[in-house]
Amino acid sequence: MSKILVTGGAGFIGSTLVDALLANGHAVTVLDNLVSGRRDYINQAADFWELDILDESLTERFLESKFDFVYHLAAQIDVRISVEDPVFDNRINVLGGLNILEASRKSGVKKVIMASTGGAIYGDTDIIPTPETAPTYPLSPYGINKLTLEKHLNYYYQVYGLNYSVLRFSNVYGPRQYKGGEAGVIAIFTEALANNKSCLIYGDGKQTRDYVYVDDVVSALIKAMTVEAQQEINISTANEVDIWEMISMIEKAAQKKLEVKLAPTRAGEQKRSCLSNSRAQEILGWQPQINFTEGIARTYKWVAEQVK
Ligand SMILES: NC(=O)c1ccc[n+]([C@@H]2O[C@H](COP(=O)([O-])OP(=O)(O)OC[C@H]3O[C@@H](n4cnc5c(N)ncnc54)[C@H](O)[C@@H]3O)[C@@H](O)[C@H]2O)c1
Repeated sequence: MSKILVTGGAGFIGSTLVDALLANGHAVTVLDNLVSGRRDYINQAADFWELDILDESLTERFLESKFDFVYHLAAQIDVRISVEDPVFDNRINVLGGLNILEASRKSGVKKVIMASTGGAIYGDTDIIPTPETAPTYPLSPYGINKLTLEKHLNYYYQVYGLNYSVLRFSNVYGPRQYKGGEAGVIAIFTEALANNKSCLIYGDGKQTRDYVYVDDVVSALIKAMTVEAQQEINISTANEVDIWEMISMIEKAAQKKLEVKLAPTRAGEQKRSCLSNSRAQEILGWQPQINFTEGIARTYKWVAEQVK
């Protein structure tokens, strides 16, 4: 049994991770300011600190709690907000992360595992599926700030010996997803269909993403706890899916048609995103287990239950 802190543990991925860690017998504390997370997602068996990651009391609290592991998932996750207000994004995603790292090193945390991003860090690239060794040209302050925090983690390892792993997720989907998020398109489309509303498609709908189911992401996060790997690891399916394929999968699960409206392409939107997962297979012994049909069926079922 380990003592584990999960920042962002009231959010979509974080709350699913907390449930799994508790089921594995760990003692879990959730740190979240509930800006996009929800109180009712927080497992009752976890301790809850309703706090901002920038809070000045963090080091003192860490020293009292003596966590073994820290999962850092709290973030400003909306790419468009990062474009409108890069200073705000930097404050949460870099300075907030540094506050967590300082508290971790001062209190003797054994390892920090950071939720990072693939698509937003690699930017548009011809190397598909994209490996971790690809050049990084982020197309948004969000991507730049995630990459910056990754570098700080490596620095803390080199200088202070603080162990870490960085997991670069592709587009995560599943129950509890926040619609304003980085990869909220499946959340938006499933909810629209469940409510019989229409959806907007920007451009020709041929833009592709690599959609990975939340339970698979959680199993990778858990594997990362015990593995020696001070590096970046993509967590993805390595399958490219375009908007039309995604819609037809959701329609199959819902057994009804989604009304779509077309809108002009949005400036700066990535055309293709698909990440190689061979490093995850090699280092974590991880592969995705939930195929897209099954993942969409589970997600739609959950969304339909919410709108009842
Ligand atoms: N969802 C995806 O497809 C995806 C893809 C790549 C990376 N990620 C990363 O995974 C992590 C989790 O994302 P998610 O999709 O679960 O998003 P989410 O919005 O559901 O979760 C983020 C959580 O962080 C909390 N939070 C935000 N700012 C905070 C602050 N200043 N102090 C304390 N808590 C704060 C929110 O309340 C929320 O509970 C993020 O770091 C995100 O960048 C997500």
